Amino acid sequence: MAEESITVTDNRTGKQYTIPIKDGAIHAADINKIKTGPDDFGLMPYAPAFVWTASTKSKVAFIDGDKGILEYRGYPIQDLAEKSTFLETAWLLLKGELPKKDELAKFTDEVTHHTFVHENVKKLLDGFHHDAHPMGILVSTVAALSTFYPDAKNIHDPEVRWSQSVRLLAKMPTIAAWAYRHSLGLPYVHPDNELNYVQNFLHMMYRMTEQRYKPHPAIERAFDVLFILHADHEQNCSANAMRGIGSSHADPYVTMAGAAAALYGPLHGGANEEVLKMLAEIGHVDRVPRFIEKVRNKEALLMGFGHRVYKNYDPRAKIIKRIADEVFEVTGRNPLLDIALELERIALQDEYFINKKLYPNVDFYSGLIYQAMRIPVAMFPVMFAIGRTAGWLSQWNELLTDPDQKIARPRQLYIGHRERKYVAMAQR
Ligand code: CMC
Repeated sequence: MAEESITVTDNRTGKQYTIPIKDGAIHAADINKIKTGPDDFGLMPYAPAFVWTASTKSKVAFIDGDKGILEYRGYPIQDLAEKSTFLETAWLLLKGELPKKDELAKFTDEVTHHTFVHENVKKLLDGFHHDAHPMGILVSTVAALSTFYPDAKNIHDPEVRWSQSVRLLAKMPTIAAWAYRHSLGLPYVHPDNELNYVQNFLHMMYRMTEQRYKPHPAIERAFDVLFILHADHEQNCSANAMRGIGSSHADPYVTMAGAAAALYGPLHGGANEEVLKMLAEIGHVDRVPRFIEKVRNKEALLMGFGHRVYKNYDPRAKIIKRIADEVFEVTGRNPLLDIALELERIALQDEYFINKKLYPNVDFYSGLIYQAMRIPVAMFPVMFAIGRTAGWLSQWNELLTDPDQKIARPRQLYIGHRERKYVAMAQR
């Protein structure tokens, strides 16, 4: 008998099964071999929301939720946040290794030269209502890019996949900035190839009558770090959507639009928006204990707290808390920060949060920084999506080159009626 295995006895039949353990997991197909007879479909693992189930092998990101560790391709997030840039991190995620000097220079040049979008995209944007949520605009526009790049359908060609990855990384800041400009009725600002990734994004967001918008270096670096922190987070809801849609071999634009739609939800990337609304609603430090009481009574969620995987302080939240100080030195302190700090202080001592291992996640402080940096609340998930583009594309590339993967098609436990007789309207 293999040492790395478990033995299961089926009490219905008395039969024993030896199931191999590989990479710390058992294969669901081996469970399915457990049958009561030839007509039995076989036992199925029931895994709502995949909480306890691995859907893929991956080499992209590693999380140890108990210890609060996050690594991209084996590099600790703290090191990347301190020493890397978003484009270097994007390459790392996509290619698996840190780029050499000439590789990064070429990649930066490629991304820079793909920041322009087709002029028709402007017409598309103009069709949105003036108060359209920028995430709705982003999701739709990313999907629409599919119609401009029919070659992208050739997803089995690694060169085609790479071209679309470059295009998407390059165009996301342009679409994001233009969604913002649209909401204000301001003219769209074209990308400026002399600027780096973050400078270009901020230039397209904020340029008014000046030749070029120049951000403060501390603010520019903060954006770069926030993009790095959001770049990937293994099999989260939107990565799972990216893989699920990508598994049907849809092109990367519509696939990524689906991932961005998953990110939009308030339990995922929409949480940073919800945190700000929550802090504004609490309104004053004195009202924090009453709000915590509401959370304890399950009348509210403490947004920006809790995580499916982290049962410890989210390492990204620690980094964000640190850069918040640097940002606030330039922008002035966000008055909501005191409420957030008090919420965190009380929550971390409260039994409800201790017992459930609820700690601040990445979204708890990111919104406060974005707000201080003049990013409107509705744009927060859009900012998340710009960074996460690198991760979505890395997960998608990994999926398409993994021989174990097929079209995502889970089974169900059917618990509804069977073989009912149709009842005519008059008899119901
Ligand atoms: N406030 C109050 N109670 C909470 C919270 C919270 N933020 N999060 C979890 N709980 C409770 C939950 O009610 C449940 O209690 P019980 O065991 O009594 O039913 C218990 O803790 C376990 O929570 P869960 O909802 O079963 O855990 P999950 O892994 O399914 O959900 C989560 C994870 C992130 C959706 C959840 O913690 C949550 O809703 N947090 C608030 C939204 C948020 O901040 N989301 C951002 C996630 S990080 C960035 C990203 O990935 O997008």
